[in-house]
Amino acid sequence: MKKQAIIDLLNQDLTGEIEAILIYMRDSFVTPQCRPSREMEEIAKDEMRHAEKLSELIVDLGGVPSMEHRELNFGKGGPKGYLRRLIELEKGAIAMYKDHIAIIPDDKIKKLLTHILHEEEGHLEEFTEQLREFNQ
Ligand SMILES: [Fe+2]
Ligand SMILES: [Fe+2]
Repeated sequence: MKKQAIIDLLNQDLTGEIEAILIYMRDSFVTPQCRPSREMEEIAKDEMRHAEKLSELIVDLGGVPSMEHRELNFGKGGPKGYLRRLIELEKGAIAMYKDHIAIIPDDKIKKLLTHILHEEEGHLEEFTEQLREFNQ
């Protein structure tokens, strides 16, 4: 696999992280002060650390972090709708990291992506738990 192909995959991961940061921050601001709102804010900070690590890897490979995002979908209908959207984003991130871990032939990168993947799995659990509490 060429370096540029790896850089492109990492930039795809970075796009997902940038979107997560923006969506989680926004949703935390429009959700009234409560545990889900604080979780959104805290997890946005994790996503920023992921974006930082991915950017470092991209630069180490001679690339430029794209810092792009697609059209942002914040979810609809208040906190429950936002949590549903966040769960969807975490599931998408988990699928993408698994895919990229399987195809990138570099142990250092695989290790870092695996670490991020485990954190995304934790986020998915956390958001799922918050939604379950809302539904009780
Ligand atoms: Fe992330
Ligand atoms: Fe996440």
